[in-house]
Amino acid sequence: MKDKLQSLLSNVTSEIKGSQAVKDLEDIRVKYLGKKGEITSILKGMKDLSNEERPKVGKIVNEVRAEIEQLLADTRKAREEEELNLRLKKEKIDVTLPGGETKLGHKHPLLGVIDEIRDIFVSMGYKVVDGPEIETVYNNFDALNAPIDHPSRGTSDTFYITDDLLLRTQTSPVQVRSMKKMEPPIKIVTTGRCFRFDELDATHSPMFHQMEGLVVGEGITMADLKGALDMFVKRFFGSHIKTKFRPHHFPFTEPSGEVDVTCFKCGGKGCRMCKGSGWIEILGCGMVHPNVLEECGIDSEKYSGFAFGMGLDRITMLKYEIEDIRLLFENDMRFIDQF
Ligand code: DAH
Repeated sequence: MKDKLQSLLSNVTSEIKGSQAVKDLEDIRVKYLGKKGEITSILKGMKDLSNEERPKVGKIVNEVRAEIEQLLADTRKAREEEELNLRLKKEKIDVTLPGGETKLGHKHPLLGVIDEIRDIFVSMGYKVVDGPEIETVYNNFDALNAPIDHPSRGTSDTFYITDDLLLRTQTSPVQVRSMKKMEPPIKIVTTGRCFRFDELDATHSPMFHQMEGLVVGEGITMADLKGALDMFVKRFFGSHIKTKFRPHHFPFTEPSGEVDVTCFKCGGKGCRMCKGSGWIEILGCGMVHPNVLEECGIDSEKYSGFAFGMGLDRITMLKYEIEDIRLLFENDMRFIDQF
């Protein structure tokens, strides 16, 4: 009996020592000291012992039980401490550390310029519309009064998809779409990608961006065109900037012009940016050609209108003094992060 208790004690001891967690100790306690535990069953069996033996064995059993209890209590305390330390280590918060920084993205400089321009025209009562990048030859050239032998129609200038479809070379076909869909008064702006068969270099890209504006109504004159564009220029480049209208030619406007603004870098004195002239060309414009109005189902006797178109990549490059258009499209974060 004594041996049995000794080996039981050594089993319990090694089980307790090998326990990992507080909850293992509880299982061990139930296994040995619980109602159906091994010590309990030994105690129950005492009644079969002789009167002589009973107190001796009883004493040993009690000693063993006390030892187990003590061992369990000590180990539990140690395990609890270990678990607490582990948790404290894991859940440690250094309140002196700076807060985690969430890096917010930002708009691409080109998209920033597009949004700014759109906002200005929206505040002037224009509606923002969209047009497809794959256009009909009719919308891109024919309806815009482009002569059949116009050089831009050539396959060396334009990406054709079929004889009738192409990648639009300008945003001007959105004028045609708008006039065919809407009744005057019409006041729209659109922005988007255009495509031309250009060799990629610092100032040319086969894919580039334009914006287009169109106003059609009764009694619209060149004065409205000049007023609108002068207002836009002052809002976008600054109230001190002056505009100059130069005659030009576009097939879809008559008369046509180009707008120059005083150089926003040197203020008109002449510098590298304006190539010494003091002026920077920013857009093309004109009074919508009667042929275009009629082609789009608008009575040119009753209505007149003006239109304008601007290269957005160039404007972005001028605004941020970016010298190479390729930087806008390469998505190099070292470049983009600067804005
Ligand atoms: N579409 C012309 C171009 O790509 C720009 C332009 C000029 C648009 C005059 C217009 C305009 O609406 O009236 O060069």
